[in-house]
Amino acid sequence: MRIDIITVLPELLRSPFDHSILKRAIDKGLVEVNLINLRDYSTHKQKSVDDYAFGGGAGMVMSIEPIANCINALKAERTYDEVIYTSPDGELLNQKMSNRLSTLKNIIILCGHYKGVDQRVRDHFITKEISIGDYVLSGGELAAAVISDSIIRLIPGAISDETSALTDSFQDNLLAPPVYTRPADYNGMKVPDVLLSGHAANIEAWRHEESLKRTKERRPDLLK
Ligand code: ADE
Repeated sequence: MRIDIITVLPELLRSPFDHSILKRAIDKGLVEVNLINLRDYSTHKQKSVDDYAFGGGAGMVMSIEPIANCINALKAERTYDEVIYTSPDGELLNQKMSNRLSTLKNIIILCGHYKGVDQRVRDHFITKEISIGDYVLSGGELAAAVISDSIIRLIPGAISDETSALTDSFQDNLLAPPVYTRPADYNGMKVPDVLLSGHAANIEAWRHEESLKRTKERRPDLLK
């Protein structure tokens, strides 16, 4: 898989891909992540990528020209399955969406900024708009990192324990059950006996019960 992230702040995005599961997936060649500086596609002397909004109002708008130049240059090299724009008014990211995106070959993620992007970009270049939650971030970079992380960890081979990504919260519309590690008794705070029993079927049943209980308490909407 290839993820091309178009951003005005490539440095901000370097670290998430330089550690742990994402770094390993990249090192193993399971995914290629390119951070593309939008300013490299500006034809202005000052490399500006934004301008005042027509009709007035506070805040700058990301211009169509550098974005079109950048996306067209990428598209000249290969075809893309999705061109994603990060925006608080996009479709809410969920596990189902990440599962689908993880099966694609090439995607672009355009990080929004300022007051937003010229609507013509959204109308003519973007195939999918994604929000990571009902709150407003300073820019789309952190959203792009969240989206990429949720996708990359699902690529077969990215996680050493193959079953682990499948038992994540949300994968079956249930939150994950509680987990414990040693010591079995910490100052009287005890691990549930069933987990120490060695009885696989009972442990499985207990985990499922706990998942259901937690989901009912915290996210009853997932059970509908
Ligand atoms: N940009 C600003 N806020 C955002 C959000 N909640 N999700 C995605 N992109 C954003």
